[in-house]
Order: sequence, then structure tokens, then C-alpha cells
Amino acid sequence: MRVGIAADHGGFGLKEDLLARLRAAGHEVVDFGAHRLDSSDDYPDFVIPLARAVAAGKVERGVAVCGSGVGASVCANKIPGVRASMINDHFSARQGVEDDHMNIICLGGRTVGPSLAWDNVEAFLAAEFSQAERHLRRLAKVASLEKDE
Ligand code: RB5
Repeated sequence: MRVGIAADHGGFGLKEDLLARLRAAGHEVVDFGAHRLDSSDDYPDFVIPLARAVAAGKVERGVAVCGSGVGASVCANKIPGVRASMINDHFSARQGVEDDHMNIICLGGRTVGPSLAWDNVEAFLAAEFSQAERHLRRLAKVASLEKDE
């Protein structure tokens, strides 16, 4: 899969770890930065380009990492077409895609270790949206918010 990844300083170490694991697993990874550890950088500078790429279909899914996963999630969801969530467990990593069509997983570099993060990323990438009528109906209601002023 073609996957985008981004992180600020709070998620930089975890991003580097996940980047290597993604490539070793055979994914094509686009790295939206940060490309070096800079303790004064800002997560929107990396998460917004990733989110725009996901929304435009330039990458199929995204992985966004900040210190907690919260800022990355809040930021990514401002981009129309993005359905991002902070994920800390395997069940939500899978069901978030199957039911809610999540297209960006957000992780906390200061809150989850690399093994748990990787398990969640693997579950996220392996899952597919169910296309179930009830979920399409709910997502249409969510998507309608993007048309509101
Ligand atoms: C940066 O210090 C930190 O606030 C950021 O990485 C993230 O945790 C925000 O949600």
C-alpha cells in the first residue's frame, strides 16, 4: 500500500521506527517529515500536508504521530475528506476502518511503545471499509458537515 507518514518532535522517534517497519513490510512510504528532530517544530506543518495527500488520494492512508496523538488528530480532521482518529488499541484500529472509514491513524510517540503502535498500524492497514448500508448512511451524515458554513 502507498502510505504517508508525518510527525513532529513529539512523534519523531516513533515515526522513524514505524517508517522502517512499513518499508520492511513492503509498503511504499511517503515521508512528510519532520526529517530531523527539532524540539521547536509544529505538528501542523507536517500533518496538514499528509492530510491533504490522503484527501487527494496521493497516498491511500496516513500515519500521523505527535506527542499524544491528539494534536495530530484535531489537525488532520480539519481537512475535508479526512477521517482521522487517535488509536491506542487493536480493536479500534480495525473497526475504525471497517465502520468509520478512518483514513489516518494518529499515534502518541510519548504514550505508546513501538510494538503496540506497530500492531495498531498493521491492523489499520489490513482493514477495509465494510461498505455496509448503515455505515454509509452515517458517513454521509458526517460528510454533510463539510458542506456547512
Ligand atoms: C509537542 O510538544 C506536543 O504538544 C505535540 O507533539 C502533541 O502532543 C500535541 O498534541
